[in-house]
Amino acid sequence: MALYTWDELNAFVNACTGCELCRSRQRPVMGRGSLTAKIMFVAEAPGSQEDRAGIPFVGPAGKLLDELLAGCGLRRENIYITNILKCHPPGNRDPLESEKERCITYLKYETLLIRPRIIVCLGRVAATRIISPDYRITRQHGQWIFRKNCHLTAVYHPSAILRDPSKLADTQADFAAIASMYRRVCPQQDMP
Ligand code: URA
Repeated sequence: MALYTWDELNAFVNACTGCELCRSRQRPVMGRGSLTAKIMFVAEAPGSQEDRAGIPFVGPAGKLLDELLAGCGLRRENIYITNILKCHPPGNRDPLESEKERCITYLKYETLLIRPRIIVCLGRVAATRIISPDYRITRQHGQWIFRKNCHLTAVYHPSAILRDPSKLADTQADFAAIASMYRRVCPQQDMP
């Protein structure tokens, strides 16, 4: 795979007309965060607030994500965060297979640029695309696999926790394990 620079990748995403979502989106939402992050979070698709802002996780799910990060000693500045889809699906519907297939190339290039040692899937859509098509988030969240020099796990999506707060305690435990993995794999990285 040819390696693009960050600016080139951004330009491709911003000009993308690869699927129908380019007609309904306000703006594509490229990943954000530290370009030297050792840990990458991958969610599903921008919501309506992200669609307006052009920035991932600025809405209520983002606020909860920040709290979960703070609770385990991580901050947005330590991480890179992105989505499987770069454009908002109308009405927050699930991404179509065809949309995921089109958009996954951008995630592959982001991963090549960031070269994370840890990838955390936020929710079912990211976990089934990245870890395994038959991934069951309810049963398998918090489990780890090691693939291509990278530790992978999945946790509940923050929006799922907002809908069902009984998922919060499990997710806090999963984030504590993520922070432990981060300290183990990247001991030289700053933790506040
Ligand atoms: N939900 C997502 O999956 N991604 C965002 O960027 C915001 C909300």
